[in-house]
Amino acid sequence: MASFIRNAVLLMLLLVFSTSICDARKRRFVRVENNLALDGDLSLTVHCKSRDDDLGVKVLPINGTFEFSFKPNFIHTTQFYCSFQWPGRFEWFDIYKDSADKCSLCYWKVFPSAVCRLSWEFDINGAYTDCYPWNDHATHIIKS
Ligand SMILES: *[C@@H]1O[C@H](CO)[C@@H](O)[C@H](O)[C@H]1NC(C)=O
Repeated sequence: MASFIRNAVLLMLLLVFSTSICDARKRRFVRVENNLALDGDLSLTVHCKSRDDDLGVKVLPINGTFEFSFKPNFIHTTQFYCSFQWPGRFEWFDIYKDSADKCSLCYWKVFPSAVCRLSWEFDINGAYTDCYPWNDHATHIIKS
C-alpha cells in the first residue's frame, strides 16, 4: 500500500513536471497595437529585444500593430522588453516575462499612460483590461 501511494505521488509529480515543460515550449504570440490616438495622431516607434534577439525598430501608425512569436525556454527566464517612443516621450516596458506571464496570446494596446493586455479571464470575447504602468526606472520626458 505504501509503495502504491509512493508510485501515485511519483506519477503525479511526473505529470506536473511534464505539463509545465509542455507549457514552457508552447509558442507565445505577442501583438502590440498603437493606441496613442488619445494624444493626437501619433506614430509609435517600437524596439523590442530579448537577451538573444533584437527584433528591430518598427514604426506603427495609429491603430497599427507589430507581432512576433517565440518559444520560451525551459527554465522560465525568457523575457522580452521594448522601448516605446513618440513625440516628447520615451518609455520602456517588459512586454513578456516568462516568470510572471501566463499568456500564450499576449495582445497589448499601448496608451499614453499605460499598456493594457487583452484579458480572456472573465470574458470569452476578451477586453484590454489588464493594464500596467510604464517601467519606472527609465521613465523620462525627452527635453527638446
Ligand atoms: C483607430 O481605431 C479607432 C477605434 O476603432 C477608430 O475610431 C479610429 O478612427 C481609428 N483611427 C485611424 C487613424 O485608423
